Amino acid sequence: MANELNQQVALVTGGSGDIGGAIARHLGHAGAHVIVTYVGGKDAAESAVSDIVTAGGRASSLQLDQRDPAAIEQCMTQISKLHSRLDIVVNNAAWNIGIPFPNLDDLTSDIWDQVLETNLRAPFLIARAAASLLKADGGGHIVNISSAGGISPGSSSIAYSSSKAGLNHLTRCLAVAMAPEVAVNCVAPGLVENTRMANRLPDAVANGARKQAVLGRVGQADDIAQQVLTFVTSRSISGQIMVIDGGMPGAMR
Ligand SMILES: NC(=O)c1ccc[n+]([C@@H]2O[C@H](COP(=O)([O-])OP(=O)(O)OC[C@H]3O[C@@H](n4cnc5c(N)ncnc54)[C@H](OP(=O)(O)O)[C@@H]3O)[C@@H](O)[C@H]2O)c1
Repeated sequence: MANELNQQVALVTGGSGDIGGAIARHLGHAGAHVIVTYVGGKDAAESAVSDIVTAGGRASSLQLDQRDPAAIEQCMTQISKLHSRLDIVVNNAAWNIGIPFPNLDDLTSDIWDQVLETNLRAPFLIARAAASLLKADGGGHIVNISSAGGISPGSSSIAYSSSKAGLNHLTRCLAVAMAPEVAVNCVAPGLVENTRMANRLPDAVANGARKQAVLGRVGQADDIAQQVLTFVTSRSISGQIMVIDGGMPGAMR
């Protein structure tokens, strides 16, 4: 096992998900103690924990519905009590539902709120709640997982695309607000093959992404995890958004 992150503690929200699980495993194999959160996917979270522990690492899981601000505060209090430190936060958890953009009437205010509370408000509340722990050693990292749909209008719904555009800008705002102790960066995946979230995309959106990728392939969960590892092992990058989508012209800025 590599040990770049030895002694460090990392929180990966949505570690029960496809990409969160891959990120957790990469951070765990790099030596961090990884705390993965889940809502309903306890077994998937435990599977990530078990893989890390079996490989000689340290990991644990925690239930967190991040739509609940009080639950976020409690989660951070628990991490502080158990570990007395937190070095890395990966705001990976998100919620989506497929609503084609032209179907404006299907995008209800309840769906809008669920998407925005989970995908945008929660990453801010988590960053705020984690700030003092992340700043304590002067070398903290936040990595937000947004979406190429936050750069060019596309993906599962207008609400999702807007939430991820907000998360991209939240990344820049937090990079300023939490400097110099905390570096804040973002990975913006395009379609990530073999994930449940990709399966919830309208077919036309998923097939369009595959066709437009100039490299002839879109991302895999491990590609996203590798980029997270790159960000959290650098002290010279902050406020950046790395698109991983196989090179779609619409997201090239
Ligand atoms: N997959 C793609 O093609 C793709 C493309 C672009 C961006 N992304 C982004 O990549 C990240 C991971 O996506 P994924 O494909 O791994 O999705 P996923 O498999 O559906 O996992 C989503 C995760 O978010 C958690 N979650 C959902 N609602 C939550 C809530 N209210 N509070 C806390 N956690 C909640 C889920 O928990 P439980 O399962 O335990 O309920 C799960 O762990 C997301 O930010 C997503 O927007 C994915």
